[in-house]
Amino acid sequence: MNNIKTYVNQHKDRFINELIELLKIPSVSADSAFSQDVINTSLAIKTALENAGCDHVEICETPGYPIVYGEKIIHKNLPTVLVYGHYDVQPADPIELWDSPPFEPVIKKTDIHPDGAIFARGACDDKGQMYMHVKALEYMIANNELPCNVKFMIEGEEEVGSKSLSWFVKQNQDKLANDIILISDTGMIAKDVPSITTGLRGLSYVQVEVTGPNRDLHSGLYGGAVANPINVLAKMIASLHDEDNHITIPGFYEKVENLSDQERAEMAKAPFSLDAYKKALDIDAVYGEKGYTTNERNSIRPTLDVNGIWGGYTGEGAKTVIASKAYAKISMRLVPHQDWNEITALFKTHFENIAPKGVRVKVTPHHGGQGYVTPIDNIGYKAANKAYTETFGVEAIPQRSGGSIPIVALFEEELNSKTILMGFGLDSDAIHSPNEHFGIFNYLKGIETIPLFYKYFTEMNA
Ligand code: BES
Ligand code: MN
Ligand code: MN
Repeated sequence: MNNIKTYVNQHKDRFINELIELLKIPSVSADSAFSQDVINTSLAIKTALENAGCDHVEICETPGYPIVYGEKIIHKNLPTVLVYGHYDVQPADPIELWDSPPFEPVIKKTDIHPDGAIFARGACDDKGQMYMHVKALEYMIANNELPCNVKFMIEGEEEVGSKSLSWFVKQNQDKLANDIILISDTGMIAKDVPSITTGLRGLSYVQVEVTGPNRDLHSGLYGGAVANPINVLAKMIASLHDEDNHITIPGFYEKVENLSDQERAEMAKAPFSLDAYKKALDIDAVYGEKGYTTNERNSIRPTLDVNGIWGGYTGEGAKTVIASKAYAKISMRLVPHQDWNEITALFKTHFENIAPKGVRVKVTPHHGGQGYVTPIDNIGYKAANKAYTETFGVEAIPQRSGGSIPIVALFEEELNSKTILMGFGLDSDAIHSPNEHFGIFNYLKGIETIPLFYKYFTEMNA
């Protein structure tokens, strides 16, 4: 398979240009103004899978955006790899903070990516990472090196909660039967430090509404005499953490798994520079739960964060007013064993309980999902590690991520298979932010590494 390096070298310009074309379609799933673009992207993926050599590709209609399914079945006795990815992207706004338009991809060099990176919404999350798998498949089929069966399932609603995919997976267990699920939708520690994501956090996302008086009031005539919903909401939110930054919701930590000292020591071995971390974010100190390191805070510990807060007058100038209502969107990142429905219920009860007299509180659950952890003593992990070791020259480091891909827990439940998360993005790639990008080096290295996973996974299964 020395071939793959040569093949990537010969075809890299085309690989980059094909990805650029895909990135030009603004497949923003959250905003219905882009619905035709989302659908057009699914058609582009279908064509790409056909061109890569799948025997059978179809657009599967759902109540929401379509799922693109493709397969190449070689023999029923061989193992089957199911590749999952998503072709939808996050909204691009705030657009004014982009240095180049989000859907007009450009290649620029950066300190971290001296070979250049493609700047566009979705470059890393997840069009670029998903497309590595399409190109790896092209290579394996064109060179007669596909060692096992492969199925692709690429969805268009990941960024909005994968509702249609849950429905699809539950209905198509036979069609989706597999021996391992392979996903590139996470990150790696650094360009020369490959890592395999062994955990994802769960999520509970809620919206809260605090209502005071029945109309907006003059803040001079009424101020100080009635509860101001914005003041009250700010106070309620502040009380959700104590002085050690522990979350104060009763029962919140009950099911949180405490890692042994040994496991924590193991985690602490991953290369990490606090100075570089602070510098990259332009902050003079980190902040978080007492008793835990930065890497622990953003992976093995649950969190609660306000994602948006609004109410009252926010236009130009000043308006003296006490708003009738105040709102916030709150996300809780959960760790394995915390059940997102249970946590949502605990939050709701607590938030209603702490509301002072004079206001009414409404909590509306938005969406959520369970976390995921996977052991490293299985064939899938070992095959991935062997693949990385060959292309990067060093072993991969197991790492729990702070992000969420809620559908992974459902895959395990419904399809009974483990997921291997081979991420090639970097934290600095600015996913979900302005100026998202994906390193050309990472993109090509991904294409190079994936076929080796197939090879070793098939060998280890024999
Ligand atoms: N690809 C990300 C998740 C991710 C990124 C995991 C980096 C690990 C490392 C995914 O597209 C995403 O953004 N997920 C959402 C949750 C979803 C329900 C909207 C998230 O984590 O906020
Ligand atoms: Mn993603
Ligand atoms: Mn995302």
